[in-house]
Amino acid sequence: MLPKTIKLNNGVELPTVGLGTFKSKPGEVENAVKAAIDAGYRHFDCAWIYGNEAEVGTAIREKIASGSVKREELFITSKLWNNFHDSEEVVPALKRSLEAFGLDYLDLYLIHWPFGLKKDSPIPASGDIQQYFSDVDYLETWRGMEDAYDLGLTKSIGFSNFNASQVQRVLDHCRIKPVVNQVECNPNINQKKLNAFCKERGIVLVGYCPLGRSEFVGKPGFPAPTIFDPRVAEIGKKYNKSPAQVVLNYLASLGVSVIPKSATPSRIIENLNIFDFTLNAEETAYLDSFNTNQRVTSLPDFKDHKYYSFSAEF
Ligand SMILES: NC(=O)c1ccc[n+]([C@@H]2O[C@H](COP(=O)([O-])OP(=O)(O)OC[C@H]3O[C@@H](n4cnc5c(N)ncnc54)[C@H](OP(=O)(O)O)[C@@H]3O)[C@@H](O)[C@H]2O)c1
Repeated sequence: MLPKTIKLNNGVELPTVGLGTFKSKPGEVENAVKAAIDAGYRHFDCAWIYGNEAEVGTAIREKIASGSVKREELFITSKLWNNFHDSEEVVPALKRSLEAFGLDYLDLYLIHWPFGLKKDSPIPASGDIQQYFSDVDYLETWRGMEDAYDLGLTKSIGFSNFNASQVQRVLDHCRIKPVVNQVECNPNINQKKLNAFCKERGIVLVGYCPLGRSEFVGKPGFPAPTIFDPRVAEIGKKYNKSPAQVVLNYLASLGVSVIPKSATPSRIIENLNIFDFTLNAEETAYLDSFNTNQRVTSLPDFKDHKYYSFSAEF
């Protein structure tokens, strides 16, 4: 059976399945987080740029106040936005997130992207985006993350969307070790190479977009989500599971923590209920066969940024 938690290199247990909160509409995410806590979720993936930390925080604080859950049972992640990569901007940015949540500390704070934008760039930046690029080195940002850790504002620190050489560069220069690299991970891009690289160095992969769904689905050049594949549905029937449960189980079997987003209570329950079956070798090989390394989230507007991460193979 799959483990329900994954131990991080600082001894903290990360719940394997978390709830994603990106694109949950205002008014939706509060109910989603409450439904998730009731269903047994303890891991919540958030970010300052999602603009809904306050609503997520309201739900969490209400559930703590009603005695449904204790703060120390929860694992709450948020992310530093690109405009705040100067080392002295990190602590204030994290404090703004904490204020929005109404919480005293985070469990995990991530550098959202390795590439920065000038502090006063529009949020989100669009149009002729190159004029907003900043060349602040993510190693400088990491020093700010270490300061935030020292102050007890977060129990762990990590990053998101870093490629292998960027991971190594932080490891070569850090004082406090990263625990997690959060990257897109679904059967179309199963990240086996990056996962093996990170694992060898004690870093856990958290997989975003695990169901492969986004606003780009159906547009030319974007891969079809595996959950719509008829054979995946057939595999699910054998175990009395949905295609989404098959895909999440497959990713978790690779040692990846998954953070599916849903605002639908029945799907929230469904996405956590993935631990009681094991795919056989042939079924696993079928899911492996989807891997083409095609991303849904490649941010091509940033491809000329000095620290763009997706030009490397992994
Ligand atoms: N670090 C980064 O740069 C980054 C980038 C992207 C995402 N993320 C994080 O990763 C999380 C997940 O990624 P994502 O939201 O892009 O994609 P996703 O979780 O792969 O897909 C979410 C979509 O799938 C639907 N869905 C959920 N459960 C389902 C099920 N059981 N069956 C069928 N459809 C289902 C949801 O619809 P309903 O809500 O209508 O149920 C929603 O439309 C985000 O919310 C965010 O927290 C991080």
